[in-house]
Amino acid sequence: MAPTTANVANEAKVANIKTLTGSELNSVPSEYTYVKNPNDQADASDPEHSIPTIDFAQLTSSSPELRSKAIEELGRACQEWGFFQVINHGVPESLLKSMIEVCHKFFDLPEEEKKEFQSRKLLEPIKCGTSFNVAIDKVRLWRDYLKVIAHPEFHSLHKPAEYSDVSLEFSKQTRQVATELLSGISESLGLEAEYIAKAMNWDRGLQILAANYYPACPQPDLAIGIPPHTDHGLVTLLIQNDMGGLEVQHNGKWVLVDCAPGAFVVNIGDQMQILTNDKYKSVWHRAVVNNRATRISIAVPHGPALETAALPIPELLGGEAPKYIGMSYEEFMELQASPAAYMMPCLDHLRVKAE
Ligand code: OGA
Ligand code: NI
Repeated sequence: MAPTTANVANEAKVANIKTLTGSELNSVPSEYTYVKNPNDQADASDPEHSIPTIDFAQLTSSSPELRSKAIEELGRACQEWGFFQVINHGVPESLLKSMIEVCHKFFDLPEEEKKEFQSRKLLEPIKCGTSFNVAIDKVRLWRDYLKVIAHPEFHSLHKPAEYSDVSLEFSKQTRQVATELLSGISESLGLEAEYIAKAMNWDRGLQILAANYYPACPQPDLAIGIPPHTDHGLVTLLIQNDMGGLEVQHNGKWVLVDCAPGAFVVNIGDQMQILTNDKYKSVWHRAVVNNRATRISIAVPHGPALETAALPIPELLGGEAPKYIGMSYEEFMELQASPAAYMMPCLDHLRVKAE
């Protein structure tokens, strides 16, 4: 949909959430009001409600027994949850903290300095903004974001000064973990380790560093950081500062993700669900807000090369009909961001219709 002049004019007027919460604010303005159903919340004290843990040291171990055990656990986590935490991944916690810190510094820059990165183009290499898409949002989201494409081409900011070095190292090391996870996932499906990477042109695959800024909210039950959605890529790796807020849908309830300090939270994305013909699900998740302190998360979606279209892998069909038609990753992302598919299960658009 082409933006109308009125939309563009309105957009320019929308203050970001940092500015809005910078002044004394005692209640959630009506444009941001989003009410969740408390009955859908999982019982936090139930140990059944914690995401599985994958030990990366075991997954990459030279011992075939340890590795095959980790691969089996990985397969189960992908099938039963679509979400898991990865521990012992070898990326220094200090690097993760530095990445969160430089992103925090970016959000703290004077508004004038951030303006040059405002863009409405989906795949703008460097882009910041507020909410999701203020031209089409029905409810405004309690978050600002910064999205920087780090692969196949690395892009960076000059301000804050440390952003460039820190994000380069962070993107490389995170990508290495994602690459190993992709091999493990391939093997967990009974395929050769490189199968998915080759089929998805992983060497030219997309990697985005997407930082989310969620300031404290005076009425957290009446606002939302990011409403329920699935991620578009193959796998997303996420880190956060010491504030939680990521919730995952599991057996019809929302489960708050509690992860070990320094762990990556990993989830399966839509392209993986297509490849596996629904065996591994791209699970719904959302970000809730709190009234105590600013939460920062960095989601790092990893996807195929932009022109690559995922299709169900023939070896995995086992006599079943393929459930999806192909669409290039770029077109898929455009569809997901379009008003027609706004926060809707985008995969349904690719589903083969029953005769
Ligand atoms: C995302 C996302 C959750 C979070 O950026 O896609 O789901 O906890 N973020 O910030
Ligand atoms: Ni997400």
